[in-house]
Amino acid sequence: MNKIVLVSCLAVLPAFSYEPSKALNDYLSELKIVAKKVNPNFKEFDATKGKDIFFTTNIVDGKKISCVSCHSDNLSKSGQNIKTNKVIDPLSPSANKSRLSEIKDMKKWLRRNFNDVYKREGTAQEKGDVLLFISKN
Ligand code: HEC
Repeated sequence: MNKIVLVSCLAVLPAFSYEPSKALNDYLSELKIVAKKVNPNFKEFDATKGKDIFFTTNIVDGKKISCVSCHSDNLSKSGQNIKTNKVIDPLSPSANKSRLSEIKDMKKWLRRNFNDVYKREGTAQEKGDVLLFISKN
């Protein structure tokens, strides 16, 4: 009986809770070391600042662009790449388990996408803030 209750609880759990992957925790620790070197007062990453980074619109090459342009303002829904028109699967790890599960993917896409939107590579603090925001949505 107890076993049955436990198993059914486990089966339900992933639908409404998200455990950060080891890769995400490891990458956030790596970013934290760099952020502290740059700013000795740095304490923790901030999801509210990450939200600003995600929603802020810039003008790049005469066109408005933000992270939302390709990923949509609902991270649990699919987006569409404004450059290629291809569908982009949801960015939220609660909606899409493969998200934030590989350090090399996070590094590659953050580097590329910060350049698309901010015309520079994000700082360690900015990357940590935005990853924390994405992981909570
Ligand atoms: C021009 C379109 C575009 C814009 C703008 C954009 N992205 Fe992306 N992003 C992509 C594509 C394409 C992928 C990779 C395709 C995929 O994984 O589905 C991706 C993947 C990612 C990933 C990888 C997630 C993972 O682990 O699989 C992260 C994180 C991410 N984007 C964050 C951002 C942030 C933060 C911004 C704003 C600074 C942003 N993106 C802006 C197109 C975009």
